[in-house]
Amino acid sequence: MNSTEAHRPSPLGLGTDGLVFGCDYNPEQWGKEVWREDVRLMREAGVNLVAINIFGWSHIEPRRGEFHFDDLDEIIALLHENGIGVNLGTGTSSPPPWLTTLHPEMLPQVSDGTTRWPGGRQAWCPSSPVFREHAMTLVRATVKRYGSNPAVVLWHVSNELGCHNALCYCDVSAAAFRVWLERHYTSIEALNEAWGTAFWSQHYAQWSEILPPRDTLSFINPSQQLDFFRFSSDELLDYFRAEAEIIRSSSTIPVTTNFMVTAHIKTQDYWRWAPEMDIVANDHYLDHRLSVPHRELSFSADATRGLADGKPWLLMEHSTSAVNWQPRNRAKAPGEMMRNSLTHVARGADGVCFFQWRASVKGTEKFHSAMLPHSGTDSRVWREVVELGALMHRLGEVAGSVVRSDIAFVFSWEAWWATDQEAHPSTDLHYLEQVHQTYEALLAIGATVTIVAPGADLTGYRLVVVPSLYLVSDSDARVVTDFVANGGHAVITFFSGIVDEHDEVRPGGYPGAFRAVTGISSEEFYPIAPHDSVALSDGGTASLWTELLHLEGAESTATYLEGPLIGVSAVTRNVFGKGVARYLATSLDSIALAEELHRAVSESGAVAVAPVTAGVEVVRRSGAEHDYVFVINHTNSDVEHSIAGYDLVTEIDIVTRGVVASGGVQIVRQKKETS
Ligand code: GLA
Repeated sequence: MNSTEAHRPSPLGLGTDGLVFGCDYNPEQWGKEVWREDVRLMREAGVNLVAINIFGWSHIEPRRGEFHFDDLDEIIALLHENGIGVNLGTGTSSPPPWLTTLHPEMLPQVSDGTTRWPGGRQAWCPSSPVFREHAMTLVRATVKRYGSNPAVVLWHVSNELGCHNALCYCDVSAAAFRVWLERHYTSIEALNEAWGTAFWSQHYAQWSEILPPRDTLSFINPSQQLDFFRFSSDELLDYFRAEAEIIRSSSTIPVTTNFMVTAHIKTQDYWRWAPEMDIVANDHYLDHRLSVPHRELSFSADATRGLADGKPWLLMEHSTSAVNWQPRNRAKAPGEMMRNSLTHVARGADGVCFFQWRASVKGTEKFHSAMLPHSGTDSRVWREVVELGALMHRLGEVAGSVVRSDIAFVFSWEAWWATDQEAHPSTDLHYLEQVHQTYEALLAIGATVTIVAPGADLTGYRLVVVPSLYLVSDSDARVVTDFVANGGHAVITFFSGIVDEHDEVRPGGYPGAFRAVTGISSEEFYPIAPHDSVALSDGGTASLWTELLHLEGAESTATYLEGPLIGVSAVTRNVFGKGVARYLATSLDSIALAEELHRAVSESGAVAVAPVTAGVEVVRRSGAEHDYVFVINHTNSDVEHSIAGYDLVTEIDIVTRGVVASGGVQIVRQKKETS
């Protein structure tokens, strides 16, 4: 076996062979002599895709209606001559000062009704017709000029739509919100019913009385809040569509925008966005406010693959080292950038790009890392970039291979919006934390999962995991129930099934929509104070949440040994139809949670589980002739494994036992068994 397998054209359809390796580039921040050096170094690093013109508006249209494309022409030509594909930004992400000066009414307002001013970025209201008109004029001009330019391989609409301006509370947004509501509910009475406005004298007589959920003295109507999230996500999606429509009317180049599947941004329901992308692209930055940031990276990568419906996707941005927007911005350790990059590839990315190419010396992001750092090419970051570029080239044969799993994991932005609202049983319960904890326990047992939307078709899966799915429609809940009835296995965790899509409680016992399938009924919740825990009969411990649960057919597998619910079931297992549903009524400690999930995985017969050592991720990508097993070592020691094959990283054959170095990655190519 050798290292020279043929590279396949990237299924991303970007005209590149193999994997994409690229970056954001902001040439407008530099003189032209720097451009030439940049392109030379890009070639040295193996860069084959460069995103430009992301923040180009004030350069291209310095005054209203006056377009200057010369510099953009020049940089596009330079990149093309050097064999580098252009990921062309439409440039609309941040309006130029002339526009906000001319039309201050397009500035966004936050929930207290105050305006957010220009001077940063994304200072525009998503519903502003004035902003849209000017942005579309720019898009039309840009597409007219570059719509069939052979250098351009991808259209990059705006940038991280909704990163800062997702929720706007101005009067223009209020009017658009009313239009959205009227389209959804048709009659004002239907809205009153859905929002439960009989409560606290909130009944609306006409549409014009409805406002966005601006700051109130007391708790705000939760259904209003929820619909405002939905509206706001749809509003920016509509904005994406408007740009995409112009592009697609005169260009056949694929269109995308960069998602932010991340722990700190929750405002876009990407399940609704993803089908509109020609390529799903994500931006991901390690978040050091989380306890183990690289696990959230894996979740984000898996969720992006889910959004891409299993097809390869593009990591549009991540960082070579530190960012500049967290409280303390940690430089990456040697090898960490490679490990992060290859984790994205392991989980389905067919390309890895960075923000940004050359570190800025002016402006807010001057302390953000880049491929070419302030210290220049005689630096660890640069050497690692060149090393990664060479490896990405060698990994070309991996392009197009896919990650398979027979474990579905339900994730919902709508449930996130609804769960994290005020006036709930415990302020300590956060949807994403529950999602992450459950995902991390699966990671710990070596289970690869496919992240799916509520209501997704579960055919072909053996197990579905449903963490704290507080909000779920009857029909989406029924998909889980039917799956179990037909022989599937489910793990459902506490505070699931409680409300319908309008945030209306299902009375008659929790977990509402999942009562029948779990064979239990809970009367009341008993949240646990932070740092407290309750011992369980099976040796585990419970924290955060408990509930007064009655068995209605399920068997109890663990009970509380102390606290107000001594003897009550904490973990249950129910045979339902031909399948089995387990219910976790509490937040189990990480070991007990992993054990419970392991039991569920084994019993379901799911095969997407790899033998792992703690801290080592093993993920398999399957191609037509080969499988590629990624062995990612997050620990401080070298780890032995028995995954045999040819390691594309060290370029050696692993006959029986391999060793993945501390902090390192191996990508073991295995010939597929032919049956
Ligand atoms: C986002 C943006 C980039 C840059 C990076 C910094 O991803 O898209 O323009 O600001 O953050 O981390």
